[in-house]
Amino acid sequence: MKSSLDGFAESPAVQLRARPGMIELGFGQPDPALLPSRAIKIAADGLLGGAQAADALSYGYERGPRDLVDAIADRIAETERRPSSSELLVTGGNSQALDELLTHLASPGDSILVEAPTYNFALAIMRSHCLRPVGVPNDEEGMQIERLEEAFGKLCKENRAPSLLYVIPTFHNPTGASLSRSRRHELVSFASARGLTIIEDDAYRELSYRDPAPESLWSIDPDRVVRLGTVSKSLAPGLRVGWMTANERLTRTLELAGLRQSGGGVNHFAAMVVAKVIRSGLYAATVDQLRAEYKARRNALVAGLAATLDGTSYQVPLGGYFVWLELPSTVDASMLLSQAEAEGVSFVPGRSFFPSPTGNTNYLRLAFTYYEPTMLKDGAERLVRIIRNLHPTRRTS
Ligand SMILES: Cc1ncc(COP(=O)(O)O)c(C=O)c1O
Repeated sequence: MKSSLDGFAESPAVQLRARPGMIELGFGQPDPALLPSRAIKIAADGLLGGAQAADALSYGYERGPRDLVDAIADRIAETERRPSSSELLVTGGNSQALDELLTHLASPGDSILVEAPTYNFALAIMRSHCLRPVGVPNDEEGMQIERLEEAFGKLCKENRAPSLLYVIPTFHNPTGASLSRSRRHELVSFASARGLTIIEDDAYRELSYRDPAPESLWSIDPDRVVRLGTVSKSLAPGLRVGWMTANERLTRTLELAGLRQSGGGVNHFAAMVVAKVIRSGLYAATVDQLRAEYKARRNALVAGLAATLDGTSYQVPLGGYFVWLELPSTVDASMLLSQAEAEGVSFVPGRSFFPSPTGNTNYLRLAFTYYEPTMLKDGAERLVRIIRNLHPTRRTS
């Protein structure tokens, strides 16, 4: 008989490991070969070998260690207004921060406005809080503001007026798109007029491949917008360190809540390490290297998709991790997946990124960070061949 500990005994160290023989274009994760272990080792050695060793191994200050708060404020100040220390809070990354925020800002049964599509695991976190995510369609310029007005009006009529809106305006997961400048301002004005708090998930801001990243919603209205940043994409996800910029009332509420009173600042040791990595200059160097590497990888994936089908469309992302493919409406991405995996290439079918469980079967998400360019091009070409074989009469090139 299987005991409840059997699964634990077999459990691996990491969430995902590539299957032999499979090009895993579904993995929205960094290439293990690009993880900056040297920079992190230097920082951790320096910390444990120096005067701060005991501080690093104690319960941390509830808001996060001052060294990191200051280092993040300085990094933000390179491109935006410098947040004051009362506007900054260290978190355990954007997933933890979203969960912590929802604990304080939402109640079971509440509606929450989200983009459709949006980050699938943000939907999972909302569902863990028994919230009802309500989708507002995106296009190539991000959330459509007229559709937001419609969705909000409908919820108000049904006595389900939301107080929260979750959005990924910069290098979106899964679409790769960014909210246009005019829509950024319209969105913030709309939220302000309706009393909505915006949760801005800014996970991909550092990974811009052409222009500087667009202005954050937080920089437009720091009182109304809670912006979540993370080192998962710019350093290493295993560190579980991020931050939020928000108004002082909210950061204070979180600081004084039981979680931080009991455990101190979140992921304190890793937060101290990250502070050292930033101060050493190795954070900026790592981000520069990742930008150059991921840009080449994006280009390779897009080159592999070039000979795609009539009726298939995608936008070349200017930052982030992903390309979002819309297939002809007759193609079901879940069915395509089994065929693709049989031929050694995998992806994430798009349906899980929509809050509504029905429809939207003809989308898929491809990530371009996990493999070197030649593998990405090969994987994309294989996928295109499989799609073409499904629709032999519709090839365009
Ligand atoms: C939009 C978005 N938010 C949050 C996360 C997770 O962030 P973290 O690792 O900081 O929890 C991801 C990771 O894929 C993401 O794409």
